Amino acid sequence: MRMRAAVLEEFGQPLVVQELELQDPRPGEVLVRLVACGVCHTDMYTASGADPSGYAPAVLGHEGAGVVEKVGEGVTSVAEGDHVVTLFSPQCGECVHCVDPRTNLCMAIRAEQNLGHLPDGTVRLSRPDGEEIRHFMGTSTFAEYTVMPEIALAKIDPEAPLEGACLFACGLSTGLGAAMNTAKVQPGTTCVVFGAGMVGLGAVAGCRLQGAERIICVDLSDDRLELARGQGATDLMKADENTVERILETTDGGFGADYTFEATGNVKVMQQAVEAARMAWGLCTVAGVAGKGETLDIIPRWLITGRRVAGSSFGGVKGREGVPKLVDLWMQGEIDVDPFISHRITLDEVNRGFDLMEAQDGIRSVIEF
Ligand code: CU
Ligand code: ZN
Repeated sequence: MRMRAAVLEEFGQPLVVQELELQDPRPGEVLVRLVACGVCHTDMYTASGADPSGYAPAVLGHEGAGVVEKVGEGVTSVAEGDHVVTLFSPQCGECVHCVDPRTNLCMAIRAEQNLGHLPDGTVRLSRPDGEEIRHFMGTSTFAEYTVMPEIALAKIDPEAPLEGACLFACGLSTGLGAAMNTAKVQPGTTCVVFGAGMVGLGAVAGCRLQGAERIICVDLSDDRLELARGQGATDLMKADENTVERILETTDGGFGADYTFEATGNVKVMQQAVEAARMAWGLCTVAGVAGKGETLDIIPRWLITGRRVAGSSFGGVKGREGVPKLVDLWMQGEIDVDPFISHRITLDEVNRGFDLMEAQDGIRSVIEF
């Protein structure tokens, strides 16, 4: 079929929206009509060329939600008309990690996905002249339609508006899951969230849902801090060079927080998040994605005295079972998603979505198809 998609043609250049050919789903694959897609920092990072494992030409986008149009042979868990959220982190249900409750890092299709292929090693995307185009993160949702493996689709409540549901495909679930799955925040505790972007705001909401008593949110922007208050932050702190000292002063006995969360991707902030965690048992969860090759400095004494550091990819959420549950929490009124959608744009305006993100204007631009 013919459809329109935003193609990364050349690193460092704007994406080019154009007509592409999309082949029918093969066995185990599903054709999805996208209804909404968030514009995420990872898309921009790849488009910039800063990611050494990036490739082009490819259709970017990974924060999608839509409706199943057609299923390939053998697909049983979704059917035409189902509402789905796309998963860059699939859940095959069978690999060594899928059968273990401790992790969501499904190994089933990693190698081919990292090469821009669908699981069978081929692509469904091409130009009208036949030149192949690669899939990004196994999702390629900056497009009117996409073909994805069945194991990378989460079937959600059809009542959930897809413009909000798409945010659960990446940043929002990452933040919620960091607090709920990775850290497993205990009731009555003190939490600090560094960064009030999509991931940080999700972490604030996750800490609140877990029953934290104090949630300190740190950011550079007053506007974002106000959004954090709306998600349940009890203390708002403008970041400066004394952030760690100020956190220690305000916590019980000057010890630091029971849980800290890093949601900026800045390695200096990660260091602060470790240092703001309480001695003896403080847990620092790193949910932000640092640039490739960057390293994190930690003084070993911080660890010897009982602080712990955990990493969290997609919030540790096993996508196919976890994302529908998070969407249900939203539908039950437990999470307020609307404030995260700061701009609604068209597919043709996708580069404007990058510009807005670069200017730190708002939390998320959502493409509506
Ligand atoms: Cu993302
Ligand atoms: Zn798996």
